[in-house]
Amino acid sequence: MRTRPLKVALLGCGVVGSEVARIMTTHADDLAARIGAPVELAGVAVRRPSKVREGIDPALITTDATALVKRGDIDVVIEVIGGIEPARTLITTAFEHGASVVSANKALLAEDGAALHAAAESQGRDLYYEAAVAGAIPLVRPLRESLAGDKVNRVLGIVNGTTNFILDRMDTSGAGYSEALDEATALGYAEADPTADVEGFDAAAKAAILAGIAFHTRVRIGEVHREGITEVTAADIASARRMGCTVKLLAICERAADGNSVTARVHPAMIPLSHPLASVREAYNAVFIEADAAGQLMFYGPGAGGPPTASAVLGDLVAVCRNKLSETTGPGESAYTRLPVSPMGEVVTRYHISLDVADKPGVLAQVATVFAEQGVSIDTVRQQSRPDSQETGGEASLVVVTHRAPDAALSATVEALRKLDTVRGVASIMRVEGE
Ligand code: HSE
Repeated sequence: MRTRPLKVALLGCGVVGSEVARIMTTHADDLAARIGAPVELAGVAVRRPSKVREGIDPALITTDATALVKRGDIDVVIEVIGGIEPARTLITTAFEHGASVVSANKALLAEDGAALHAAAESQGRDLYYEAAVAGAIPLVRPLRESLAGDKVNRVLGIVNGTTNFILDRMDTSGAGYSEALDEATALGYAEADPTADVEGFDAAAKAAILAGIAFHTRVRIGEVHREGITEVTAADIASARRMGCTVKLLAICERAADGNSVTARVHPAMIPLSHPLASVREAYNAVFIEADAAGQLMFYGPGAGGPPTASAVLGDLVAVCRNKLSETTGPGESAYTRLPVSPMGEVVTRYHISLDVADKPGVLAQVATVFAEQGVSIDTVRQQSRPDSQETGGEASLVVVTHRAPDAALSATVEALRKLDTVRGVASIMRVEGE
């Protein structure tokens, strides 16, 4: 074993960074044995230097992250500060000054992954980011390496723990969205400003990264169709239950049937209780992958939190250090297919539509005609007169589930339904996936 240590700079020492530092210290011998050389924490860049950081030598702490990555003796930079800047500049500066990079920064990779990969490649460095998608769950390396000989057609994932916790609570307790969000906040699952999670931004960044790796192409976060969970109601969840389904916020990346384009989207959807993703409870994550030869695979585990995310960071650190010692680099970006990302309107899916309609002759036929005019085939219809139908002038609830059709045709159908006098309201619309 080499005795001269590999030097590591840590950018950020919050929930994840402090766990990375702790495990680097407590598991130092095992890490050295696995890598073939000791690894030494050579500097830690933080914003608040006065904060007490147990187990970290205060002499390593600095507020000057730029000087740290420019030192020239650093072998690996671990970036766990998040956000676009200064992370992007620090990573590219690290490459220029001889370091490889391990990052957990999903927002940056989903926004500018291609440029970062190009910068790493031009300098002969590694860029690893297992921790950017679904915390501890191995996904990036299985897709990039284990499945490199297969053809992945679909990735369907629950990649945001906060929203899964909220939807799970709504499902199990019948709570409304706000009540379930309050519980998630009280338990520390949701942040004080939950926008990134509940509006689907976090999941969309992960979808962009997964789609790019799975389909050997480039997908940026702006190309991912995104809908959050804030409009999901207790009635939607109850309706899903009646259909033998549950509601999940899904990240769905698909290769078109003709293989010439891809789609990436994040939205709430009903999935059958028999689907493996339906059993993913609380704040857990899971990703379901469909590939030509492998068939169906599911990866499951904790998608957030200090120790799980640190596990993924340290796995990357070991891989990058091994590459350094062998004077090589791991697989870089594989984006040779350059497939266009189709808009949401071209996605083929199914809708569950719940309508409040007038309960009188001809209404069902009128509604069915609207579907027919848009070329949307109906799978099932359930109609129930309201108990107070006589007082409301005759009102019924109508639940229509469609066969698969382009999203544009399905949303045009809903628009046309809203214009019918006999349709008093569209109570809920949700896509149905996973069948
Ligand atoms: N906020 C994310 C979640 C974890 O709730 O899953 C970090 O991506």
